[in-house]
Amino acid sequence: MNKIPFGPTYDEMYDLDKIDPEIREKANKAKENEFDHMNLFNITWKDENNEVRKIVLPKELTGVDANIVVLIGKHFPSGSHKVGAAYSTLIEGCVDKEIIPGEHTILGPSTGNFGIGVSYICNLMGYDAIVIMPDNMSKERYERIKKYGAKLDLTPGTESDVILTLERTYELKSNPINKSLAQFELFPNYRFHRHVTGNSSIDAVKGIGNGRIACFTCAPGSAGTIAAGDKIKEVFPEVKIAALEPYECSTLTNGGRGQHRIEGIGDKMCTLIHNVLNTDFVVLIEDEDCVKGLKVIHDGSDTLIKCGVKKEIAYSMKDLFGVSGICNIIGAIKMAKHLKLGPDENVVTIATDGFDRYDSVLKDLDNRYLETADFVLERWKKDVFDNANVENISDYRKEDKKEQLFAQKEKDWLPFGYSKEYIDSMRKLEFWDNEYAKIKIYDKKIKEMRSID
Ligand SMILES: Cc1ncc(COP(=O)(O)O)c(C=O)c1O
Repeated sequence: MNKIPFGPTYDEMYDLDKIDPEIREKANKAKENEFDHMNLFNITWKDENNEVRKIVLPKELTGVDANIVVLIGKHFPSGSHKVGAAYSTLIEGCVDKEIIPGEHTILGPSTGNFGIGVSYICNLMGYDAIVIMPDNMSKERYERIKKYGAKLDLTPGTESDVILTLERTYELKSNPINKSLAQFELFPNYRFHRHVTGNSSIDAVKGIGNGRIACFTCAPGSAGTIAAGDKIKEVFPEVKIAALEPYECSTLTNGGRGQHRIEGIGDKMCTLIHNVLNTDFVVLIEDEDCVKGLKVIHDGSDTLIKCGVKKEIAYSMKDLFGVSGICNIIGAIKMAKHLKLGPDENVVTIATDGFDRYDSVLKDLDNRYLETADFVLERWKKDVFDNANVENISDYRKEDKKEQLFAQKEKDWLPFGYSKEYIDSMRKLEFWDNEYAKIKIYDKKIKEMRSID
């Protein structure tokens, strides 16, 4: 009955040594052809040697004593780690027999990378897919989705209008052939990041500073990635988890809902799968700083070298980040200053994707500014990185702040049919631990279905 190519378990995505060596070899070869379905086994933060792909940022860039360790997401198949959330949601639907090959069309509500991930995974696993996304995102995103063969269903607006994609998905779901990989509300996204990204973050700091994680900074879109913090907190209870959001769209801070330029994050909501119990700080980052920071790193290698960054490192960083990655880095610098972290301490953050989908964003920046010559980049380097300050950091560890986030969650999700009782059940850590524990069940089911010919 099962004709779809089955991929890895959660545990295999975290630890490549758990994959059968023959399959691992085939997956390595498959990197030459992105449409080879063995690439499902390349959904991981790890390289061929089972080492986390990461960069420890040069201190000449960050200006802080603490080590800022960034996990690099651009090497995931399809170019961003969002493919992990897409795969996990699809495979859970398959093993639960809710998604049937040949019968169902997959819906991917997204602002880009998740949609790219959904179209890619559906291509490898043989499903028709429709990606529902705003019509004003960077054009590189639409091109990728089309290349992977999904249809586009566009709603008006930008990143901040993601709620319209949810409403459109809700409409399309009334047709029973459509099955939604609802990243904002389904827990495979949470499970993937708590297990795979969380454990990989812990591995990433081995041998760096004191080998622990003092702070994890992460800008939520669906709030899947920030679930890595839940795993980190299990292992390093002292860690502070900081959720970053655009200054222009400060939903978690004060219900703000403006337009902004940081694609992938700041979606005007507290998502259903966001475990706010573990969110210790909320930090606002200005969108223009992120775009300028991207310009400095991508086009300003000479400027960075002048500021003391080693030549090979300056060049190696050029293509590693997108706009949200820079947001995460600025957030990491701000938190390192706020927490007064020393040279022994580590801040971990994430680069969801790389530069390949932001060329148009820098072209737009060049058009908006009269000059972006080296002396301008030098000033931006100082303004954005060295002078990142400790303003706009709010402490969310107190009861009233948790209440505020739960009120936001109710406002956002009661209209989609979730009950207050269900949302209230998320007030206990036990709820999140139970969701996470399902990994064992799903890994077993994936292995069983994989063994059926
Ligand atoms: C570029 C980028 N950064 C950050 C995020 C946020 O990640 P998450 O949805 O896991 O919160 C996304 C999500 O699509 C993204 O595309």
